[in-house]
Amino acid sequence: MTGTPDNSFGFRAVAPDERRARIRRVFTGVAPRYDLMNDLMSFGLHRLWKRWLIAAVAPQPGERIVDLAGGTGDVGAGLAGPDRCVAICDPSVAMMEAGRKRALPHVQWIAGEAEALPFADNALDALTISFGIRNVTRLRDALAEMHRVLKPGGRAFCLEFSKPAFWLAPFYNLFSFQVIPRLGALVANQPEAYAYLVESIRRFPDQEELAALFRDAGFAQVKYRNFSFGIVCLHIGYKG
Ligand SMILES: C[S@@+](CC[C@H](N)C(=O)[O-])C[C@H]1O[C@@H](n2cnc3c(N)ncnc32)[C@H](O)[C@@H]1O
Repeated sequence: MTGTPDNSFGFRAVAPDERRARIRRVFTGVAPRYDLMNDLMSFGLHRLWKRWLIAAVAPQPGERIVDLAGGTGDVGAGLAGPDRCVAICDPSVAMMEAGRKRALPHVQWIAGEAEALPFADNALDALTISFGIRNVTRLRDALAEMHRVLKPGGRAFCLEFSKPAFWLAPFYNLFSFQVIPRLGALVANQPEAYAYLVESIRRFPDQEELAALFRDAGFAQVKYRNFSFGIVCLHIGYKG
């Protein structure tokens, strides 16, 4: 699939380079207010979801771990410690600059994107990606790269918005489509950026579809766990 646009999940037929450029602009625009907006949009719940992700990773001494699409560093900071090697990797310099202001200890910041990871084969013990995978332009290529850079037995963790329980969907959709873009306009002065974020969630594969894509990329023992009635889902896979 390398080099081909992954348009099998209903993303609007936009050329990958155009979509990529648009996503870069979105994150450059939202970077200064990204952390505040996350708290407002999720009522602080994103902190809890990330804490559960970090607990699932359970980093061990000596491990080499990358938080991909690491943005301003929430997950990287939670994974980091003096006895392991943790890097935050993201293509958005603006997001990483916002994160660096927090002076997080024991983390490295590396520019790179999921579709072409700047790491050797079989290099990592674990890789996390939190609220990042729906932004990649070529999903299958990104999953193949995640698989490539893990050591045999290495583990991948993907935290992402997903398909909520049917009874929750009407309230969730109302909040997503009516409240979030207005909050984005009011707080971050970026209504289009937040409309993009909502739209990208709606168009992304659901729990089962993403699990199938993990398996297609070669991951074994793929499983997932819904958080908050499926608003968010954690997928886990191992390199066999
Ligand atoms: C919604 S933010 C998530 C940031 C952080 N992981 C968190 O959970 O708060 C999405 C991040 O994905 C990054 N991103 C966009 N396109 C990407 C790509 N192709 N590969 C890796 N990261 C990408 C953006 O720069 C942004 O920092």
